[in-house]
Amino acid sequence: MKTFELASLSITFLLAFLHNSEVRADNPIIQTIYTADPAPIVYNNRLYCFTDHDLPGSTFFNMTDWRLFSTVDMVNWQDHGVVMSLKTFSWASANAWAGQVINRNNKFYYYAPMTHGATGAMAIGVGVSNNITGPYVDALGHPLVENNEIDPTVFIDDDGQAYLYWANPDLWYVKLNEDMISYSGSPAQIQLTVAGFGARQGNENRTTSFEEGPWVYKRNGIYYNVFAADCCSEDIRYSTSPGPLGPWTYRGVVMPTQGSSFTNHPAVIDFMGNSYFFYHNGALPGGGGFDRSVAVEKFVYNADGSIPQINMTTAGAPRINTLNPYQRQEAELIAWSSGVSTEMCSEGGLDVCNINNGDYVKVEGVDFSANGASVGAKSFSARVASATSGGNIQLHLDSVGGALVGSCTVPSTGGWQTWTTINCSVSGATGVRDLFFVYTGGGTGFLFNINWWQFS
Ligand SMILES: *[C@@H]1O[C@H](CO)[C@@H](O)[C@H](O)[C@H]1NC(C)=O
Ligand SMILES: *[C@@H]1O[C@H](CO)[C@@H](O)[C@H](O)[C@H]1NC(C)=O
Ligand SMILES: *[C@@H]1O[C@H](CO)[C@@H](O)[C@H](O)[C@H]1NC(C)=O
Ligand SMILES: *[C@@H]1O[C@H](CO)[C@@H](O)[C@H](O)[C@H]1NC(C)=O
Ligand SMILES: *[C@@H]1O[C@H](CO)[C@@H](O)[C@H](O)[C@H]1NC(C)=O
Repeated sequence: MKTFELASLSITFLLAFLHNSEVRADNPIIQTIYTADPAPIVYNNRLYCFTDHDLPGSTFFNMTDWRLFSTVDMVNWQDHGVVMSLKTFSWASANAWAGQVINRNNKFYYYAPMTHGATGAMAIGVGVSNNITGPYVDALGHPLVENNEIDPTVFIDDDGQAYLYWANPDLWYVKLNEDMISYSGSPAQIQLTVAGFGARQGNENRTTSFEEGPWVYKRNGIYYNVFAADCCSEDIRYSTSPGPLGPWTYRGVVMPTQGSSFTNHPAVIDFMGNSYFFYHNGALPGGGGFDRSVAVEKFVYNADGSIPQINMTTAGAPRINTLNPYQRQEAELIAWSSGVSTEMCSEGGLDVCNINNGDYVKVEGVDFSANGASVGAKSFSARVASATSGGNIQLHLDSVGGALVGSCTVPSTGGWQTWTTINCSVSGATGVRDLFFVYTGGGTGFLFNINWWQFS
């Protein structure tokens, strides 16, 4: 008994000590996998962020699928899993790289570069879906454009004309037709001039600082092209223009070379009255130039529409909403996690899996006074499965070692996708708090999986 108490006390202390420095950290926004090349889009009051996906231990950009995450509060990100992959495109052989999604005609169009197996060149394909969360299917059965350049960005001007830009080493565009899967005219280049894109500081042979990763959008009548510059390591710069095709004027550095990734990739978007800058770095454990992670910062445009300099932070963007724990929430809604993964769930959506003793998931801004619950939460239930002997879901407030307000036993269910609902009592869960699900158990192998949770 004494030994047990001491052991659990020291584990609690150790966890609190280990994770103390992470308590305020929300960047990188995804911890379950390596993600890169963020492409956010706002739809139905939700911010969706599409990414590509680095494999652990990569020594090249050897990527095979595209992922989706979404948020309503900028801190808790719901994992939507794989929405498109190389297998979606029968003509593609490798390199599922940076893409962007846009909606039109009640459909979602995903422009993404990949290797065209027959030619060996990088080409841009189009995935299409009726649902933003996919799955996306190949809209054409062949590339939309192919000239061995990459990094498509797409936008629709106020007059309805859609433009696709792509790049590296040049900057190309084409005018998309209203169907978004064909174009009029031929692909053409935007001239890269020092006045338009800045002087190169690196030692390569390109004339301007423009490298790759254009992100073109229009805001308050100004056209912006935010891009990765001056390889390598890259920084982020931008240019503005009075029209979609120029003339572009170079405006300077947005994000200096920072973080342990030699590439970076910008995306800029407004959501709920705030402006956000998405990028990637190598900040996760094991991270680096081929194992990158998407991060986000909030910023405020200057009065003249110029973009201030933005640094990478571990704090990330502030929370803009609370979360209602009395509605069913997906287990893969995560502000920060340690040790866990996500996978397809037999009941639909995803579940949290690969749980070991001491792993945890943090959910931020949980409002235990929601629904007029003045006394806070009384019980907790979760949908769980375990092919081993299960374990416990401990509910802590504020930190991994913070107040314990409930502990739910997860039994063996006889299979990793054999689901049952557990229920346990809760006391002391009041106010707006950060909630930590701390997973414990003494068995061998993974402990259990979780599909969803809910308080009452
Ligand atoms: C890329 O990844 C695939 C799948 O993991 C692997 O089969 C292939 O050998 C890798 N190629 C390179 C060049 O790393
Ligand atoms: C889109 O798919 C999600 C997840 O599969 C589903 O919950 C949602 O209802 C779908 N939306 C529409 C508009 O069909
Ligand atoms: C610059 O161009 C020259 C001539 O084509 C070539 O020899 C050299 O390798 C290039 N330098 C870089 C850094 O690409
Ligand atoms: C960014 O970091 C640099 C170097 O630490 C610092 O001088 C600068 O003030 C920072 N800028 C912002 C906007 O925080
Ligand atoms: C847990 O079970 C009790 C008693 O059946 C029920 O009143 C309560 O709503 C359940 N809690 C949750 C979160 O479902």
